[in-house]
Amino acid sequence: MSETASGTSTTEGRSFEPPQQLAAHANVGPDVYDEASADRLAFWAKQARRLTWTQEWDEVLDWSNPPFAKWFVGGKLNVAYNCVDRHVEDGHGDQVAYHWEGEPADDTRTITYAQLKDEVCKAANALIELGVRAGDRVAIYMPMIPETVISMLACARIGAVHMVVFGGFSADALASRLDDAGAVLVITSDGGYRRGAPSALKPAVDDAVGRSPGVRNVVVVKRTGQDVEWTEGRDLWWDDVVERQSTEHEPESFDAEHPLYIMYTSGTTAKPKGILHTTGGYLTQVSFTHWASFDLKADDDVFWTAADVGWVTGHSYIVYGPLSNRATSVMYEGTPETPHRGRWWEIIQKYGVTILYTAPTVIRTFMKWGEDVPAGFDLSSLRVLGSVGEPINPEAWLWYHKNIGGGRCPIVDTWWQTETGGHMINPLPGVTSLVPGSAQHPFPGISAKVVDDEGNELTNDSTGLLVLTEPWPSMLRTIWGDDDRYVDTYWSRFGKNVYFAGDGAKKDADGNIWLLGRVDDVMNVSGHRISTTEVESSLVGHPAVAEAAVVGASDPTTGQGIVAFVILRESGTDSGDELVQTLRNHVARDIGPIAKPRQIMVVQELPKTRSGKIMRRLLRDIAENRELGDVTTLTDSSVMNLIKEKLPAAP
Ligand code: WTA
Repeated sequence: MSETASGTSTTEGRSFEPPQQLAAHANVGPDVYDEASADRLAFWAKQARRLTWTQEWDEVLDWSNPPFAKWFVGGKLNVAYNCVDRHVEDGHGDQVAYHWEGEPADDTRTITYAQLKDEVCKAANALIELGVRAGDRVAIYMPMIPETVISMLACARIGAVHMVVFGGFSADALASRLDDAGAVLVITSDGGYRRGAPSALKPAVDDAVGRSPGVRNVVVVKRTGQDVEWTEGRDLWWDDVVERQSTEHEPESFDAEHPLYIMYTSGTTAKPKGILHTTGGYLTQVSFTHWASFDLKADDDVFWTAADVGWVTGHSYIVYGPLSNRATSVMYEGTPETPHRGRWWEIIQKYGVTILYTAPTVIRTFMKWGEDVPAGFDLSSLRVLGSVGEPINPEAWLWYHKNIGGGRCPIVDTWWQTETGGHMINPLPGVTSLVPGSAQHPFPGISAKVVDDEGNELTNDSTGLLVLTEPWPSMLRTIWGDDDRYVDTYWSRFGKNVYFAGDGAKKDADGNIWLLGRVDDVMNVSGHRISTTEVESSLVGHPAVAEAAVVGASDPTTGQGIVAFVILRESGTDSGDELVQTLRNHVARDIGPIAKPRQIMVVQELPKTRSGKIMRRLLRDIAENRELGDVTTLTDSSVMNLIKEKLPAAP
C-alpha cells in the first residue's frame, strides 16, 4: 500500500492509497458514490435485488409518517433462506460457513452450508413443536458456539423475533429484558469457557426465568457438561428436543417489515432500550455493506469478525452479512490471551484469514503486549482490516496497519450503531485514500452531516454533532413497546426528519468526518455502551450509598473507564478499600462485569448547578487528572476543593 504525503488536515500528516491490485478487482469502484447520489432509492433497490425475494416490493420507501419508516413495502422474503438454503441450492452446500474454534485448544468444528441448513431446519422444527409462532419473542443467552447462530436463524426462519442477551450480563439484566420483550422461550447452555475454565450460564437463567412467568420453556445446550439445576416440564436439553427433528423445513415468506430481532442497548436512562430491526431493509444493508466495505469475495476470502454474537456487530457481521454473502467465516469462542497472547494470530495463520474485523480497544491491548507476539506468526493471508466500536486513535491505526496488516492492508474504520444496524460512515478499501483515525465518508446511499446546536450544517474545518438526514434501510424501526421514546430519543432534537446519533464529530479541511465520542451520558468501555445512569442507579441501590455520580474517564486501553463518585449514607461508615471492592462487585452483579467501575471515590459532596444538576464535566476533569474547567455555575464552588482534598491520587 503506497503512502503519500497529504495536506495539513490529518493528525499524522499522511494518507494511504488503496493497494493497486485490490483497487483493480474491488467489488465497488469510485463511481458507486455518484450512482448512489443520483438516485438513492433506486440504488438501495438495486442492492435489495442481491437477495432472493418471493414477492417484489411495490414501493422502496414509505416515509409518509416520519420517523416511522417502511422499506420495500409489500415485499416478502425469508431471511434464513437467503442466508443458507439458496447457497445450497446454488451448488455451494460443501462450502464452509463457519470454522468454529472453541476456547479449549483442539475443540473445533467445521460447518458447511449444507450442514448449517440441516441444523437450522431441525431447530426451527423444534421451536414449532414447542409452540413458538411467528412474532413470538425468543431469548438467546449463550456463549459463542454454533448453536447460537443456529438458534438465531431458526427464529428468523419461522418469523419468531430473537433477542440475544450477551452471556456476560447478569441475571437481573436478563430478567428485565425477558420482561420488557415478553419472551416465551429461552435458549441457553449449561455454561461456556472463559479464560480456560468453564463458567456457568444456567443459574442466571434459572434466577431470571423464575421472575418471568411468560417464559414457558428453557432449552439447554450441553457445552461444558457442568451440573445444572433442572425444572421438570420447563427445561429441555437441546439434544433431546432438536436432534430428533427432521432436516426438512419449508421456509415461509415474511413481510419486509416483519420484526427480525430486538437488541437491547444502553441509553441515557437506567432502562435499556430494545432496538427493533426488521427483515428486508436490514438484510439488504448488512449484506451490501459487508460485501462493499470489506470487498468480500465469497469464493476466496476467509472472513473473521472477532466480536461476540451478543452485540450488534456479531448480528450484522458474524451472522447476517457474511451468511447472506455466502462467506466462509471464523467464529472464535474465547479471549485473545487464552491459552497464550498469540491465539488470534495462530487462528489467522491456521485458517488463512484474509479479512479481520475488530475493535480499537483490542488493538491497544495487543500494542501493550508488544509487536513480537504477532511477528511470530504468518499473517500474510490478510488483505483487509476493519475497526469498529469507538474512534481508532492514529497511533493504534498505524500499529494495526504495520504489525498486523504488514503495511499492505487497508483499514476500514466503520462508524455505526446498534440503532443503524449496519455500516454508515467508513472508507471503501478499493477506493478511498485512508486517513488514519478518521471514518472519513458516509457510505454510498447514506446521508450524514455535521451540524451545530441549531441543526445548521457546518462547513469543513468545524466541530459539531453528527446527524443522519435521510432514512436508511437497516435503521431501527422503533424502541420495542415505546414509540414515544423512539421519537424523543432520536428524532426530536432537530425535528422528525433528522436522526440525532448522540456522537460529536468534526469535519476536517478535506471533508473527512472524525468521530469524537458520545455527547450524552453514555460511556464507551472497550466498545461496550454503558449508561452512567444505569451504573448510578445500581450504586444507590446499595444500602451504604446515599448518592452517586458516574463519569467515563479516558483510558489508554479501554477507551473510557468507569469512575464513580459516591456519598455514603452515614458518615463514619467504613469508606476503606473493602467497601469500594464491595461496591464494585455489587455493580458487576447487578449489571454485569463489563459495568464494574474502574475506580470508586468516596466523597462528601457532589458538584451541582443551581438547578440541582450534577456537573459531570467537573468530575471528569478530576477523574482525568486535569485542571478544573469553569466552576462559575456551581452552587458552591468550594465543593470542588473539598472533593479534591479528599481524593487519593488518580491511577
Ligand atoms: C461508537 C457498535 C467512532 C459511537 C457498532 C456510537 C464509534 C457507538 C465507531 C455505538 C467508530 C462505534 N468510530 N465511534 N468506528 N463505531 N462507535 O451501539 O459512539 O454498540 O454511537 O454499536 O459506538 O455503539 P454500539
